[in-house]
Formats: sequence, structure tokens, C-alpha cells
Amino acid sequence: MADSLKNVSVVGASGNLGKEVVRELLDAGFKVTAFAREELTATFPSEVAVKKVDYQSVESLTAALQGQDAVVSTIATAAVGGQIPLVDAAVAAKVKRFIPSEFGINTRIVEGTSIGKILQGKVKTLDYIIGKSQENPWFSWTGVSSGVFFDWGLKYGTVGFDKNSRTAVIYDSGEEPVQASNLAFIGKAVAAILSQPEKTANRYLSIASFNPSQNQILKIAEEETGEKWTVEQASTEEQEKIGEEKLGRGDYSAFSYLLRWRIYADGAGLAVLGDKSGISLLGLQEEDLAATVKAWLRG
Ligand SMILES: NC(=O)c1ccc[n+]([C@@H]2O[C@H](COP(=O)([O-])OP(=O)(O)OC[C@H]3O[C@@H](n4cnc5c(N)ncnc54)[C@H](OP(=O)(O)O)[C@@H]3O)[C@@H](O)[C@H]2O)c1
Repeated sequence: MADSLKNVSVVGASGNLGKEVVRELLDAGFKVTAFAREELTATFPSEVAVKKVDYQSVESLTAALQGQDAVVSTIATAAVGGQIPLVDAAVAAKVKRFIPSEFGINTRIVEGTSIGKILQGKVKTLDYIIGKSQENPWFSWTGVSSGVFFDWGLKYGTVGFDKNSRTAVIYDSGEEPVQASNLAFIGKAVAAILSQPEKTANRYLSIASFNPSQNQILKIAEEETGEKWTVEQASTEEQEKIGEEKLGRGDYSAFSYLLRWRIYADGAGLAVLGDKSGISLLGLQEEDLAATVKAWLRG
């Protein structure tokens, strides 16, 4: 099996994460095909084959997956609940490995929680994939929890730091370590998974470039800029309250509030360290937090 996962289809290859996954797979020597919807306008590196597909049609997807060894789905959040035809097509086309669009908090431990309700698209897709792998022993899966998209989140403000106004929003004590990964690191992890198919078959792996606390990030930002940043103190209890209210109204913008509560609350305990981390299994090393923060500040 080790040499056989060469041809890899990346679904959502034009996206934030998909682009990085494609780059890292090419670097690692995989033969990459990008799947895209009909209305595709994105461009890809010349070595990448591009297939336009209809994600609702098992027939269209099965045809596109002929000869493929693995599917990596980095499809948008809005479309994660629609991956079932893709799974059925992967099984029909005898694809050996499926990596679904997880790439966030560990969705295997959210049952019974409010945020778990919003993550049902991911949870049900992976449950379905696991069922298919049990029926078809040659069909396997790997789930990847990456925590927060860190370099992307610094750039787009989702981790609470604004370099222009030198402002940071710090939740609770700011001391809780938080699972976080840079996009290229996630791409490297995907390549490492597909390079070591036996070790990584039918496993859910939590990975992290690092597990910084908000205060650690702030300290690096202040040292690097030589300025004291304005800190806006916030409480995760308040985030939870807003999230629950929104969810109660069926408003899924609750997600980011419930997420902040889940990951930043003192004692949340979701950092992936030591045995909890899949990076040593994959042969990867933690990344340099300060270097990532400095690159963002200089960018
Ligand atoms: N951990 C985090 O902080 C974090 C942050 C953001 C996202 N995520 C997760 O990471 C995964 C990938 O997210 P992403 O931000 O990289 O995705 P994205 O850029 O929003 O979208 C990826 C691609 O999905 C394709 N797509 C197919 N059907 C679609 C539809 N109905 N609506 C929109 N796009 C559609 C598009 O490609 P084509 O147009 O080429 O078809 C798009 O470029 C998701 O599971 C998401 O939940 C995690």
C-alpha cells in the first residue's frame, strides 16, 4: 500500500487551505488533480490536472475519480454537509484513502455540545466514511483536527490581534494554550499522512504547529513592535451566552462565539501536546511561534 497512494484529488483546491495542500502535495511528489465546480475561475500550478465536477452527482464524481488513490477534501464550511456523494463516488471508484474536510476543532469530542450541533455536517460525514471503511476494508480514512488556522487567522483578524491598531482582544486570563496550525503545516501533515498510509489508516489525528496562549502571542507582538498594545479584556462566558442565544434562534453565526468560548476558556484543556498530538507519528516538528508572529507583523 505504501507506494500506491500517488494520485490525489483535492476537493476545494482553490480555497484558503486547498491551495496550500496542493502546494505541499506537489512538493512531496504526489500527482495532483484539483476538483472544482463548473463556475471555476481559479487557476492552478501547471502540473495540476483540473476536473470540473458536480458535487451532487455520484456519477460525475465517480468518473472523475477513476485511477485516483486518495481524496483530500478541503471543501468550504458551507458545503461540508454535502460530501456524501463524494464518499459514495470514492468507494465506487475504489479510492483507497479519504481525508474529509475537518481541519478545525476535534469533531470527535463535541457530541452533546452546542458547537457540536453546528458541526453536524462534519460529524455525520465522518461517521458515514467510517461505516464505508468497515464495509470495505480496502477503503480507509484519516481525520485531521488542526485547531485554529493561525497564520490565516492573524491575517484576517480571527485570532483577535489587529496589527494596524495595535489592539488585542484577550479572553479570560489569556493563559489557556490553544491548538493552532499554519496552513502550510496542515498541507505538510496531509502529505505526510498520504506518504505513510499504513500508520495513518482509520485514525483521527490532532495536529498543531504550536499551542500558544493569547498572552504569549501578545508578548511576542509587543516585543517585536516595541510598543505596548491596547488590550480589550473579554469573557468567554459572555461569548458562550451570545452563542447560545444565536443558536437558539437558529442563527449559525453562533459558531465563532461558541468557538471562542470552547478554546479560550481557562481550563478548556484542548491543547494538543505530547501523546495527544499526531505530529510525531507523522514525522513533523512543532513550528516557531515567534517566527510566525514576526512574519505577520512584517508582512
Ligand atoms: N480551523 C480554522 O480556523 C478554520 C478556518 C476556516 C475554515 N476551516 C475549515 O477548513 C476547511 C476548508 O476551509 P477553507 O476556508 O479553506 O474553505 P474555502 O476557502 O471557504 O472554500 C474551499 C473551496 O470549496 C469549494 N466549494 C465547493 N462547494 C462550495 C460551496 N457550496 N460554497 C463555497 N465553496 C465551495 C470552492 O472551490 P471551487 O470554487 O474551486 O469549487 C472553495 O474554493 C473547512 O472544513 C472549514 O470548516 C477551519
